[in-house]
Formats: sequence, C-alpha cells, structure tokens
Amino acid sequence: MSDRYCVFGNPVHHSRSPAIHRAFAAQCAQDVSYTAILAPIGGFPEAVGEFAATGGRGANVTLPFKEEAFALASRLSERARIAGAVNTLDFAGPGIRGDNTDGAGLVQDLTGNLGLPIAGRRILLLGAGGAARGVLGPLLDAGPRLLVVANRTVARAQALARRFAGVARVQACGFDDLGGESFDLVINATSASLAGDVPPLPKGVFSAGALAYDMVYGDAATPFLGFARSQGVERLADGLGMLVEQAAESFLVWRGVRPQTAPVIAMLRAARTPAGQR
Ligand code: ATR
Repeated sequence: MSDRYCVFGNPVHHSRSPAIHRAFAAQCAQDVSYTAILAPIGGFPEAVGEFAATGGRGANVTLPFKEEAFALASRLSERARIAGAVNTLDFAGPGIRGDNTDGAGLVQDLTGNLGLPIAGRRILLLGAGGAARGVLGPLLDAGPRLLVVANRTVARAQALARRFAGVARVQACGFDDLGGESFDLVINATSASLAGDVPPLPKGVFSAGALAYDMVYGDAATPFLGFARSQGVERLADGLGMLVEQAAESFLVWRGVRPQTAPVIAMLRAARTPAGQR
C-alpha cells in the first residue's frame, strides 16, 4: 500500500496540495498517496490522531489549525518553534514532530524562482498575524539590510518585532508611519486580500524596480497586486510559487528528496482555480 499523507484544513476543498504532492510523487517515483481532510473546528487533535493511528505517515496543516498543530507536536524543529506555528507533521519517529516550511518556501520562491536576492535589500512585511510570523525568521536569516513589519494594529507589529529583537534588525510600525520610506520588496502577509481589501499604504512605498509579493493567490490579480500595479510596480508575484515551494520542503522532510518545483508551478498556472488558500 502507498505511504499515506494528507492536508488538514477547514475549509480544505480548494486545496492545491493534493495535486502538488501527487505530481511530486510521480516525478520522484515515490509510492505516496495524498488527500485533503476536512477536520472539524474543535476536533483537530482527534482527526490527526485517527489519521496517524490508521497508518498516516505525515500531514500538512493549513488554516485555521497551524497554532493547534504547534501545540499538538511533541517535538519541534527550530524554525517551527520560532514561527510558533506548524504546517508539517511527521509521524515517522516517536511522538509527533512539527515543522514549518512556509518561510523556507517563501524565501526559495523569492530567491530561486523570482531571482530576488534578499541579502542587502530593504523589505517591508505587511501584517503581524500567523502568516507574517511564520515567514519572518527565514526572511531575517536571508540577511536583508532592513526589515520593517507594518500592521494595522501597531502593537501586534511591535510584539512580533520584539520576538526577533537581538537576532536581526527589524522595525515595527503602522501603515501611516511608512511615509517617505521606500522598499525593494513589499510582501503582503495580511488577510486583507481575502476580503477584497488593500492595506492603506502611503505613496512612494515601492522603490524603482521593486517586487510586490502577495502571499495569497487566485485566478485574478489580488487587490494588493492591483494596487501595486496602479503605483507603477512592474514586478508582481502571488503566493502560488510559495505554495509549491513549501510543499517541496515538506516532501523533503518526509521523503528525503526535494522535488523539482518549476514543472509543478507551471502545471498549476495552466489550471488556475479561484481561492486564496492552500
Ligand atoms: P493570518 O494567520 O492569515 O495572518 P491573522 O492572524 O488573523 O491571520 O492575521 C491577519 C492579519 O491581516 C493581521 O495582521 C491583520 O491586521 P490586525 O492585526 O490589525 O488585525 C491583517 N488584516 C486583516 N484585514 C486587514 C485589512 N482589511 N487591512 C489591513 N490589514 C488587515
């Protein structure tokens, strides 16, 4: 029988993860099955327990369960501990090991697929919720010259920056405070796009040649990317590449081999579906 993996989420029916992991398995000639499982709100630990008890080898975790997965894991990777969230569960060893491949996926998409070296750059990260926290550590590890976290609720940005104080140069502020600053890379890690909204950014926040990156993705350009285009930004990217890269990193954790991502990204771009979730 195939080794079984899945993604837990709620909702989860739009998830592209089964298609991605099936493509990886075929490419790497690995006998793996991968399904999407709708875990009930309030019933995540039970759903994971049942999957593991019936032969499941590992799982991805998406909204809204990443913090619960963090709490459930008996062992954590360093990057999951720093993120305070888990998107990858591994049942192979004793107990449940939790890892987080989101930040590595974002950095790989930026540096590998989009050709934007982070080292020495000025980066603006919008949002201070779970999505921002999950990627901040790996972004800082990549050595930006400056990283500013801006959030609607300034206190949340400050709390997030404090977690990393001493590790690297990271500043926190509200959107209004950004006036006069410009950035080489602006990453939208807010959930504003999902509600058709755009964080209120002052003019001039994108430097000449900047890349605007939205961590969500969908059929059409997200509101944030539409806004960036209206500001004259030509380099625009949604989160589809990050989705495939974090999946490849999870596949590596489970199977010891990192699949090639470019053909899988191309496959998904050719068959886009609505939804901004993984
Ligand atoms: P996630 O796990 O997706 O990050 P979250 O923890 O609820 O979800 O965080 C959502 C983030 O999007 C927060 O940074 C939130 O700002 P607040 O901390 O001020 O709530 C941000 N956000 C949501 N809707 C927004 C909007 N319409 N404009 C700007 N920021 C928004």
